[in-house]
Amino acid sequence: MYKTILGIETSCDETAAAVLEKDESGVKVLSNIIASSSELQATFGGVIPEQAAREQLKSIIPVIETAIEKSGLTIKDIDAIAVTYGPGLIGSLLIGVETAKTLALIYKKPLIPVNHLIGHFYANWIKPSAISHQSSAKEEKAGSRKLTTESIPSFPCIGLLVSGGHTDLVLFEGHMKYKYLGGTRDDAAGECFDKSARLMGLPYPGGPHISKLAKNGDASKIKLPKPMRESGDLDFSFSGLKTAVSNYVKQNPDYNKEDLAASLEDTIIESLVIKTMSAPKEYGVSEIMIAGGVAANERLSAQLRTSTHVKVFSPSHNIFCTDNAAMIASAGFFTKETVDPLQLQANPNLSL
Ligand code: KG4
Ligand code: ZN
Repeated sequence: MYKTILGIETSCDETAAAVLEKDESGVKVLSNIIASSSELQATFGGVIPEQAAREQLKSIIPVIETAIEKSGLTIKDIDAIAVTYGPGLIGSLLIGVETAKTLALIYKKPLIPVNHLIGHFYANWIKPSAISHQSSAKEEKAGSRKLTTESIPSFPCIGLLVSGGHTDLVLFEGHMKYKYLGGTRDDAAGECFDKSARLMGLPYPGGPHISKLAKNGDASKIKLPKPMRESGDLDFSFSGLKTAVSNYVKQNPDYNKEDLAASLEDTIIESLVIKTMSAPKEYGVSEIMIAGGVAANERLSAQLRTSTHVKVFSPSHNIFCTDNAAMIASAGFFTKETVDPLQLQANPNLSL
């Protein structure tokens, strides 16, 4: 329906805006800008909501202006605005939502509300060719991952969302038609990476640091508990694992960081893979898509791809796994509903 969408994402500590275009060949990125306060947040070992919101306020206008400018379009050429309205930190969400509402009213654009969690899945619809349009310093830091496929998921499809705040398994029956199958009963997978990393004295966010150390570690040297492996459902639990890391670090002051990182990564990934791979059988589905920051973990996608019965999709680039606005604009193309700008409210507790 729309040819071009401006996406806006401010649910946590990234201020992001992107302009995407959709034609018969798919969804492509014209510009994708991310300003992150994560380095500032790292000095506190995690996100301070008040501070994240203040940084959002400073960045939102320049980030949107840059995204439009880099797209080669003007605001007049943009057909609609898609914005994350939840879940997330209320102070941060409000900055994006109120800005999007104002732009939609002034420029008379349709406003598309996007659930951040669903937005993550729609990173899988972004064409890999988008990479040539990237211009973010963060992307260079994140390191380019090899592209895996030109194609996009089809339905029905199992979705695994693994981020800093969520670990959820969902059955997608069509665009925006999904059913919750299971999820974490306590901490999210990303949270377990982050909290364990903090216990090991590593910077925030911890996932990429654990992953890097794990490459040179021997997972078999340190045994960690494997919660809910045989629980017979599609739920996860990671808080016990974090406690086990805490106990291990206290009891073994001279521990080998690389071995502990390897064991932790192994345990988290094993739990994610076991449950995710059992879902297609149970629901007669042959495709899986992964999304969210932890989907940037190379070992996770590699292990899921060892199965020959299921086709596994992951975002074509790390920058589309962690928080970004391209995924929000992408979701916008597949959302039928728009909202009256005066009615849209940020919802920090929005769920799937
Ligand atoms: O999706 P995201 O950017 O933010 C949320 O919506 O939560 O996910 C951030 C999470 C953090 O917990 C971070 O440690 C984790 O993704 N992460 C990783 C990797 N890259 C980011 N975890 C494991 N391995 C990685 N390579
Ligand atoms: Zn996210």
